[in-house]
Amino acid sequence: MSSVLTRTRLAVPPTPAVPDVHGGQVPVAVGEPLIRLRGVTKTYGSGSAAFQALRGVDLDIAAGEFVAVMGPSGSGKSTAMNILGCLDTPTSGTYQFRGVAVQRLSRDQRARLRRRWLGFVFQGFNLLARTTALENVELPLLYRGVPRAQRHVAAAKALASVGLAGWETHTPAELSGGQQQRVAIARAIVTEPAVLLADEPTGNLDSQRSREIMELLRELNVRQQITVLMVTHEPDMAAYARRVVHFVDGLVESDTPRTDEGA
Ligand SMILES: Nc1ncnc2c1ncn2[C@@H]1O[C@H](COP(=O)(O)OP(=O)(O)O)[C@@H](O)[C@H]1O
Ligand SMILES: [Mg+2]
Repeated sequence: MSSVLTRTRLAVPPTPAVPDVHGGQVPVAVGEPLIRLRGVTKTYGSGSAAFQALRGVDLDIAAGEFVAVMGPSGSGKSTAMNILGCLDTPTSGTYQFRGVAVQRLSRDQRARLRRRWLGFVFQGFNLLARTTALENVELPLLYRGVPRAQRHVAAAKALASVGLAGWETHTPAELSGGQQQRVAIARAIVTEPAVLLADEPTGNLDSQRSREIMELLRELNVRQQITVLMVTHEPDMAAYARRVVHFVDGLVESDTPRTDEGA
């Protein structure tokens, strides 16, 4: 940890709303949500082929939340996740992340915001074949220019935190689906993101493996205070979240806190 970061932390005390556990240098005012969408629309295509996948989404997410995103196929869940993850931009509306107006950022700045604060997990794992678990997890650090020795240490630690200590040299083909998704989660958290965006992370897994992945996500949420946003079709999986946002036809149809903890 650099002394610059340490000094910044001392100069800017963490707010109750956003515990400064992620080396954050941008303070977030008390009561300000980590994520704020207002009137977000997304239109794919143009003219008669135009399709409005999001039709005016308002959504606030506070630091530390564990939110399940549900809704029928085609309701705009992935579109919303891609916008939240700075992989795509809204057609209209505003997106504030930690108080920063994302729509005013350049493509480059957005990419930096993404690499600094966000981690992604997808249904299909998206690991590099013929590449070891350790090397897969090291990749985001390689992009950041982290030296090799440091990459190794951080990636090994991330693999251990998802229960894969001892599996560092295995390639995806040598791992089960559940293990591959663990590697993908390790890769997503190795950069210590503030938010983990998971789009149907258990969609390719059997129910036992799915529950293990959900336990892991909950542990990351509680222990490492990572805000988790997860798309799922399964009520059993949504039961791990503390809030369920339901999309229908490109709009948030309901947004319900869950009072009972866990599944
Ligand atoms: N790149 C794209 N081009 C055109 N239409 C798209 C594109 N991506 C998604 N869509 C359409 O937008 C709608 C919402 O898609 P999506 O956000 O993937 O829904 P969900 O994740 O809820 O299943 C769907 O009707 C889909 O066909
Ligand atoms: Mg989807």
